[in-house]
Amino acid sequence: MANLQSSASEPSSFAGASPPSPSSIGGGAGGAASAAQEPRKMASAEQLVLDLCDRELRENALLELSKKREIFQDLAPLLWHSFGTIAALLQEIVSIYPALSPPVLSAGASNRVCNALALLQCVASHPDTRIPFLHAHVPLFLYPFLNTFSKTRPFEYLRLTSLGVIGALVKVDDTEVIGFLLQTEIIPLCLRTMEMGSELSKTVATFIVQKILLDDIGLRYVCATPERFYAVGSVLGNMVISLADQPSTRLLKHIIRCYLRLSDNPRFVLSFIWHQMILHLSSHVLIFVLPRRACVALHNCLPDMLKDGTFNISLRDDPATR
Ligand code: TRP
Repeated sequence: MANLQSSASEPSSFAGASPPSPSSIGGGAGGAASAAQEPRKMASAEQLVLDLCDRELRENALLELSKKREIFQDLAPLLWHSFGTIAALLQEIVSIYPALSPPVLSAGASNRVCNALALLQCVASHPDTRIPFLHAHVPLFLYPFLNTFSKTRPFEYLRLTSLGVIGALVKVDDTEVIGFLLQTEIIPLCLRTMEMGSELSKTVATFIVQKILLDDIGLRYVCATPERFYAVGSVLGNMVISLADQPSTRLLKHIIRCYLRLSDNPRFVLSFIWHQMILHLSSHVLIFVLPRRACVALHNCLPDMLKDGTFNISLRDDPATR
């Protein structure tokens, strides 16, 4: 599917479709199918979609569909429009809520729900189903997964795959998507993963925050209060520090884009100054009354490691790689 193609600006984790689902490891989405095979494949996709509504057959259908989701043409509209299918996927999702707290989710249950999430990602990625998906508020069903703390694999995997769905939504720049995500308070959930997730899920979460910041409404939202700005800034700063031990170019790239966007913005600068005043941290910041000078101040406040050559990067913004 064209809209699933990777581009230079997104985490490679879900460039192809979603973070690797258990079913897609070691097979599945191979090369493009020949035209002659297409009708037969489609028929089996239809059968598998029907199977999703049968509790006995659902587990296998989830596995097969998520494995082959890239070779089934227009799987997303089929999933969205066939009777009972989305309800079946949501049923899968809510069925594991009781295992989130206390955290007792098994690997098998996590894999199964991640296959359902991979299908929802397919729906979130398709141009014809993305907005209906949003209007139905389906992403809200994933928020409890992002609100978990356990660092075990089943939970890490669940957060990564859920972020993959949100990542698919923000990949296409659409202010309606950003508005929905802001209204439903996705940012603190992303910040949580940016603080405690694996490198891959940190990358997807930072990519989402970057996409939000690149939207004017998103930037205004984050800079509307010093607390919000400070929450984002301090998580970015902590990630930079931990990158010194465990370098990741793809993660660093998204962190830098967040910083560049923030430092470009006069409102941010005011937030920044306000925050410094509140904390009485550095009185010299108060002299930065002009945004230009405050931008310089911000540059001076970037984590040293971004400037001292630790990561061998340029802080110049390059629109070509956004
Ligand atoms: N209700 C909080 C707010 O509107 C949500 C929030 C918490 C938040 N931490 C944040 C929003 C960090 C943006 C950034 O501020």
